[in-house]
Amino acid sequence: MKMKRIGVLTSGGDTPGMNAAIRAVVKAGMHYGAEVYGIYKGYYGLIHDIIKPLDGNSVYNIIHRGGTILKSARCKEFKTAEGREKAFETLKKYDIDGLVVIGGDGTLTGARLLGKEHDFPVIGLPGTIDNDLYGTDYTIGYDTAVNTVVAAVDKIRDTAHSHDRLFIVEVMGRDAGFIALRSGIATGAEKILIPEAKTFIEDLYESLEKGKSHDEGAGIIIVAEGDDFGGALEVEKKIREKFPDYDIRVSILGHIQRGGAPTAYDRVLASGLGYQAVKALIDGKRGMMVGSINRKIEFTPFEQTIKYNRPVNVELHTIAEILAL
Ligand code: F6P
Repeated sequence: MKMKRIGVLTSGGDTPGMNAAIRAVVKAGMHYGAEVYGIYKGYYGLIHDIIKPLDGNSVYNIIHRGGTILKSARCKEFKTAEGREKAFETLKKYDIDGLVVIGGDGTLTGARLLGKEHDFPVIGLPGTIDNDLYGTDYTIGYDTAVNTVVAAVDKIRDTAHSHDRLFIVEVMGRDAGFIALRSGIATGAEKILIPEAKTFIEDLYESLEKGKSHDEGAGIIIVAEGDDFGGALEVEKKIREKFPDYDIRVSILGHIQRGGAPTAYDRVLASGLGYQAVKALIDGKRGMMVGSINRKIEFTPFEQTIKYNRPVNVELHTIAEILAL
């Protein structure tokens, strides 16, 4: 089937690199002779008809910018069959033949349902800072988020050391510890708490006692927000109970992790995957996410990206514990 018109949207939590992906979709569309329409505010814009054609000018000067020029949203309406029906009507109204969606787990779940219920070609791009999608080694935005955390923790460590303070730094990751683990290793954190590994309070106490000999109680604990123990404030409470003399501060990094200029890695990843998404639609592919595994482009059916969890490298967590001693 000839793809004359392709829609593109960003949905769910935004990520640095989404703009580079949109740019690549538009430019690849131009290359293959397809018009590209931008759908604003994710699935909400598809249901409520917030759509504009995009051209080279629309994506000029955006490759280095964080956020998404198309804006993003988490859309409850799209979770219903009626919402998806309305979205499909909009696609028909604009004569859109295929759709590229950029987002995380929720976005790809919606894409799968839309594609199945209405026999419509959809290709997904992995866009989440959490890196928790099966079918790619890196999601768009993850590398930037990790580098943002590393820059912040390096600064925190300076002041931690000056004041002999223990800092508990909470990073994003509702269900996954990828950001915590990678940034924790890169900053030499004394302890890394992630949802994928049960947190035992006695182990934490023991590590703190050992660490005290190096730096008079100064140190960094990185906690993923979804850790089974609770967030940074819960961890702080527990440590205070055991070590009332510790000078403890909590730093919740929050949404700074979602913004900022994408790293070169994210720009290149987003550019390559954006191009591949358009090419896939042109080649007649549908119902899949395009990712990069071992530096090779791989297509994974939505069913699998949604069903399978991508585990963090637990061995890396063990290595981090050894290196922290
Ligand atoms: O999924 C990406 C993410 O940044 C999570 O790490 C975080 O828990 C969540 O989004 C925050 O969502 P919101 O911006 O809607 O509060």
